[in-house]
Amino acid sequence: MTKPIRTIGITTGGGDCPGLNAVIRAAVKSAILKHGWNVIGILDGFDGLIWPDRCRPLTLKDVSGILPRGGTILGTTNRGNPFEYKYTENGKELVRDFSQQVIGNTRSMGIDALIIIGGDGTQKIALDLHHRGLKVVGVPKTIDNDLSATEITFGFDTALHTATDAIDKIHTTAESHHRIMVVEVMGRDAGWIALEAGIAGGAHVILIPEIPFTMQSICNFVEQRTHEGKHFTIIVVAEGVKIPADLHARFVEEKRAFPRAGAVGNLIGDAVGMMTKREVRVAVLGHIQRGGSPSPFDRILSTRFGVAAVDLIARGEFGKMVCLRQARVQSVDIAEAVGMMKSVPPDGEMVMTAKATGVSFGDG
Ligand code: F6P
Repeated sequence: MTKPIRTIGITTGGGDCPGLNAVIRAAVKSAILKHGWNVIGILDGFDGLIWPDRCRPLTLKDVSGILPRGGTILGTTNRGNPFEYKYTENGKELVRDFSQQVIGNTRSMGIDALIIIGGDGTQKIALDLHHRGLKVVGVPKTIDNDLSATEITFGFDTALHTATDAIDKIHTTAESHHRIMVVEVMGRDAGWIALEAGIAGGAHVILIPEIPFTMQSICNFVEQRTHEGKHFTIIVVAEGVKIPADLHARFVEEKRAFPRAGAVGNLIGDAVGMMTKREVRVAVLGHIQRGGSPSPFDRILSTRFGVAAVDLIARGEFGKMVCLRQARVQSVDIAEAVGMMKSVPPDGEMVMTAKATGVSFGDG
C-alpha cells in the first residue's frame, strides 16, 4: 500500500517571475484546506534541501496577502543544481554532487512529495530527483513563454504588459525628437515578448532570435520611413537575437558576447546610428520585466496551476508537470516536457500579421 501524504514541500527555482507567490499561495491553501496536509517551504530552490535549516513550515498566515506580490517569498537561485553544485573554496571553483543530501534531507524532514516550480532547467533537476525516488510534481514558469509543453506560462502576460507600456512611453518621446529608439526586451532563446509587445506597442522593427536579420535591411527600412515623412522609428529587439554578419563586419573590434541584458540593444543602436547618421537612443528594459505585481491573467493561471499541482499529488501522479492545453489545465510527463523549446514560427500567423501591417523583421 502506498504511504498516505501528510506533508508536502514547495520550492521555487531558476529566475523569478510574477505569479510565483500566487502559485505558492494556492498550493498551500489547497493542501491545508482541501487535504489537511502540512506544507514546508524550501528556501532558495534546492539549496534549502541541501541545508535544511533553510526550510520552514508554511501556514495559511504565511501566504496571506501574497497573491498580488511579485517575486517569490521562498527566494530562488539559478545556480543551485544539486547534482553539479558550483561553489568556491580557498579561491578555487569546485563542483560537487549534493543530490544524496537533497534526497536524505527530504526524507528526514518527513516530506512525502515536492512541488517544484521552475523553468526548463529546474524541471530537469526535478526529473532527476524523481528518477532517484523522490515524489515530485512540476509547475512551469518563465516570462519568456518558451516551453512547448504548455500553451502559456504565468509571468509572460505581466512581462508583456510591462514591455508594451514601455514601448508606448518610448513612442511619444521618439516622435517628439524624431529619433530612432531601440528597446531591448528579454527573451534568451525565443522572441515571444519582443514579437507580442512589438505588435501591441506598434513597433516598426521587431528583431527576434528566430528570424535572421541584417543591419542593412533595418537601415533601408529606416530610410524608407524617412522618405515617407516618418522621422522616428521604434526597434524592439529580443536580447537573444543572433548578431548578423554585417554587424560583425563593421564592429570587428567589439567582438563581444551577449549573455547579459543591454549588450545587444546597445550594439544595434550604435550600428544603426553610425549607418544612418541619425540620432539613436537605447532603452534596456531588463529585469523590470520580471518584477512587479502579476496581471489578473497571471494570478488566475498561477492559482489554477497551484491547485492542480496539489491535485496531482493527491492522485499519486508523480513525475508530472501541470500545463495549459486548449485553455484547460492538464498535466504532462516532466520527461516529455523538458528540453522542448517553443520558438516563434517565422512563417506563423503572428509574424505574418505583423508583416502585413508593415512591420520589418530586418529580413527583407
Ligand atoms: O529565462 C527568463 C529570463 O528572464 C531570460 O529572458 C533572461 O535572459 C534571463 O532570465 C536572465 O536571467 P538572470 O536573472 O540570471 O540575469
